[in-house]
Amino acid sequence: MATVPLRIDILTIFPRMLDGILGESMIKRAQAAGLVQIRCVNLRDYATGVHLSTDDRPYGGGPGMVMTPEPVFRAVEALRGPDTQVLLMTPQGTPFKQAVALDLSRQSHLLILCGHYEGVDERIREALVDREISIGDYVLTNGVIAAAVVSDAVVRLLPGALGGAGAADDESFTTGRLEYPQYTRPPVFRGMSVPEILLSGNHGEIAKWRLQQSMARTQARRPDLGG
Ligand code: ADE
Repeated sequence: MATVPLRIDILTIFPRMLDGILGESMIKRAQAAGLVQIRCVNLRDYATGVHLSTDDRPYGGGPGMVMTPEPVFRAVEALRGPDTQVLLMTPQGTPFKQAVALDLSRQSHLLILCGHYEGVDERIREALVDREISIGDYVLTNGVIAAAVVSDAVVRLLPGALGGAGAADDESFTTGRLEYPQYTRPPVFRGMSVPEILLSGNHGEIAKWRLQQSMARTQARRPDLGG
């Protein structure tokens, strides 16, 4: 199958924070295989003035610093194309879910803005951002960690990124349920046995058992999923 590589640009003042994450494991392989092109762009490269500053004190007073519009506008205008989705990582965004990851994996270019400090100048939101995303109800020191989470969840959904075909089809949240328990060798470990059914070779019964386990687990742990 011909795949058009996804491009992900992550705009941050801490580009090196992502070196380890992007340079290892599945994300590394997906880049090497040409499925995705990920670049960390230093926001400071678009800053002007002697201090190349990217933040300033909030009008109206209050604690902390706010990201200034100028370097962000310059960067976004230089990097975006006609098909770019501009994302802002912020705890005020829509909750990041598997369905959002799937939607993003079908885009051609994601430009992810990472908020820092107390927040970003509201004009950035109003004029540049297509979608605001939160990875959970807690506050991180900066959005680059959230951008890494989103990138990882998106890249693994690209066709060809995971080893086995369909590896992403059966898992938690894709089915709307939590995944069933998994086992591998040995069949008995420190007195704990693998359920007999999984050793039976009866694929129909195994599928039934897995569905029932998955439903029971979802009901017990995440009844809000409605699985
Ligand atoms: N930046 C700070 N906290 C965040 C969160 N929970 N989600 C996304 N971006 C963030």
